[in-house]
Amino acid sequence: MIVTIDGPAGAGKSSIARQVADRLAFDFLDTGAMYRAVTLGCLRAGVDFDDVDALEQFAGCLELRWDDQRIFLNGEDVSEEIRQPEVSAAIGRIADLLPLRARLSEMQRQVAEGRDIVTEGRDQGAEVFPHAECKVFLTASPQTRARRRQLQLSETGVDLSIDEILDAQNRRDLEDTTRDVGRLRAADDAIVVNTDCLSSDEVLQAVLEIIHGVLESRTSKTAS
Ligand code: DC
Repeated sequence: MIVTIDGPAGAGKSSIARQVADRLAFDFLDTGAMYRAVTLGCLRAGVDFDDVDALEQFAGCLELRWDDQRIFLNGEDVSEEIRQPEVSAAIGRIADLLPLRARLSEMQRQVAEGRDIVTEGRDQGAEVFPHAECKVFLTASPQTRARRRQLQLSETGVDLSIDEILDAQNRRDLEDTTRDVGRLRAADDAIVVNTDCLSSDEVLQAVLEIIHGVLESRTSKTAS
């Protein structure tokens, strides 16, 4: 069974998707980590981010591997380094590269092949796994998402104002919702969960209920 969890940055999908996978003993795939690893590789190599051909060529030569919830770039575990703000700031150009998107989408399908998996991203339900049995789209208002991000950052000793966070978030939202392929959107058959007034535990329960509902209807279909 494939469960897709999509939504904008800061809607809380990463931690929810991991917890859902843990609870159900499913595998977990963080597709943003793949885009982040490619961005890191291009930044490290000093590729000109304004040169689409150079980016495409270099990105195409990078070796990526998703293994045991870690992301490897040319054999090196970069799971922590990909969270740097420089990577988030530069990722839009990388996520716009169509051949790269095709390659990463194919990798994602290979990872999911024959498994029970929770896969998280922007385009999972609408584009990469259109036939997934269970699709969830998590949303929250820009203010809520920015406040959550501010709290997360302050826990790591980084203090930014809400306005600074909102600015960066608005830029990412615009990039994520306007690209031609792989843009952030809920699949027509996704269940949308607004997390504004929910604690993370309540979001987890809501998503688990959705999945249990799908599993039950699957069981009753098999029985009849
Ligand atoms: O989920 P995240 O913040 O780690 O994702 C980082 C960026 O990667 C996001 O702004 C857009 C891109 N991305 C994408 O284009 N498609 C995905 N399936 C996942 C992420």
